[in-house]
Amino acid sequence: MIFYFSATGNSQSAAEQIASALDSKLISIGLALRDGHFDFDISGDEYLGFVVPTFAYTLPAPVAMFIEKLNLTGWAGQHTFGVFTCGEGSGDEDAALTVALKNKGIGYNGSFDVVMPDNFILWSNLPSEAALNRRLSAARNTVDTIIAKLKNKENGRLTTKTPRMPFMPAEAVSTAAGTSKMRVTDKCVGCGTCAKLCPMGCISIKDGAPVWEGSCSMCLACLHHCPAGAVEYENQTAGKKRYVNPDCKVQETNKY
Ligand SMILES: Cc1cc2nc3c(=O)[nH]c(=O)nc-3n(C[C@H](O)[C@H](O)[C@H](O)COP(=O)(O)O)c2cc1C
Repeated sequence: MIFYFSATGNSQSAAEQIASALDSKLISIGLALRDGHFDFDISGDEYLGFVVPTFAYTLPAPVAMFIEKLNLTGWAGQHTFGVFTCGEGSGDEDAALTVALKNKGIGYNGSFDVVMPDNFILWSNLPSEAALNRRLSAARNTVDTIIAKLKNKENGRLTTKTPRMPFMPAEAVSTAAGTSKMRVTDKCVGCGTCAKLCPMGCISIKDGAPVWEGSCSMCLACLHHCPAGAVEYENQTAGKKRYVNPDCKVQETNKY
């Protein structure tokens, strides 16, 4: 069974590629969190995988929350791995996932990382279309290499070099900026896409526009997917290009 979390589709596209090659069931952590669904049985599956992005060099808070609540039956030493999609490097995410699974009595065979387009556009900008495509193409090849290793049941090994961060619990980094800095411009048409996509359920539509309240994980799904380009983070994202991975298949794969 492959669990994935994805705000802008990088992890989803990698997870789809991996699940299809390994003939594993694919589960969306975002969808499961929104539905409050935490019971999963992996008896029939050869693999247990987590394909997720890197947030502040560790696990995204929604992923940490999901694993904590996860009631997994049928784990019997399946090959268990993480694949981290990141803009630069996954830092201490491997340690965070190892600990999160160990706390559930689940063993771990190590992590792989895949450098993908960086969706954190608060401090930087997306590169040119050509550079973006080069990165996507390299990422597809990296995922193919990971699949070959997983088929051989090789243990995961990280390849990116990132300065190690002190080990941080995910909740310490995810909500640091709070929800107060998310805003919509008058381009908003009140379609509700942002509210439907929010894995933390912290967006509601009031008087025809989104309002952010509670525990935002800063995943930026609302900002990148807004069809009107109306969602902004303070003044840090105005005029910047948005990003959604072009390889994702339809959401119907996410049923459980
Ligand atoms: C809140 C946030 C924090 C991030 N922190 C890191 C980081 O520490 N290191 C890194 O290499 N990329 C970082 N990124 C970039 C994402 O990990 C990367 O773009 C990822 O592939 C996005 O996956 P998704 O499309 O499945 O959501 C961050 C992105 C977000 C939204």
